[in-house]
Amino acid sequence: MKTIEALSWRYATKKFDSSKLVENKKLEKIKNAFNLTPTSYGLQPIKLIIIQNQDLKNKLLPYSYNQNQIVDASHLLVFCIDNIIDKEFILKNFDLIKSVRNTPDEILNPYKDYLVNHFNQLSSEEIIEWATNQAYLAMGNVLTVSALEKIDACPMEGFIPEKFTEILGLEQFDLTPVLVMPIGYRDKKDEFSSMKKVRKPLEEVIIEMN
Ligand SMILES: Cc1cc2nc3c(=O)[nH]c(=O)nc-3n(C[C@H](O)[C@H](O)[C@H](O)COP(=O)(O)O)c2cc1C
Repeated sequence: MKTIEALSWRYATKKFDSSKLVENKKLEKIKNAFNLTPTSYGLQPIKLIIIQNQDLKNKLLPYSYNQNQIVDASHLLVFCIDNIIDKEFILKNFDLIKSVRNTPDEILNPYKDYLVNHFNQLSSEEIIEWATNQAYLAMGNVLTVSALEKIDACPMEGFIPEKFTEILGLEQFDLTPVLVMPIGYRDKKDEFSSMKKVRKPLEEVIIEMN
């Protein structure tokens, strides 16, 4: 029940108490939740940027449709996808599997060839869509772990990726931002914090086939 309580407690926080910082110990949990997120084929085509610098947050505000949670939050998480997902990217992942698990080449090679061939056939739009899906999954995971840690958060699509790329210099990392998430602690004056949760009835969203 603790999990469901946490999920009921959380809400898309609009007003953060700017005097409260998320502790490093909790940030470590967020980093690990991000990295432990399962991804398609285990390829992890995503990276997380964690911004505490106030000047940077201020610069991003106009490109977040002036949503103030960006600047008031303790930290701003920016979920990014890798721009270069090519043969080398895939082979690097197989090197990692090999170094961690010592899996023999005979076992890995057929799967490796399959993946290289599979990604070769995808268009760049399809690869971007695939990678973006993984970022959404990671954000869901981080959102849940944040709630369990009693950290407030606001999942956000409302920002201009091109401007974030420019301000954060993401081209040097070959990254594209796809989601942002300010985290911190809710301001007591946030009127949304006391509002009832709006969700469809369970019977409407769950179809059980027995
Ligand atoms: C992918 C995604 C994008 C969202 N983008 C924004 C946003 O840009 N700004 C905002 O204030 N809320 C944003 N939200 C918050 C949703 O409006 C909110 O989660 C939803 O209404 C459910 O409310 P709750 O999170 O308080 O339970 C976003 C949520 C998700 C999952």
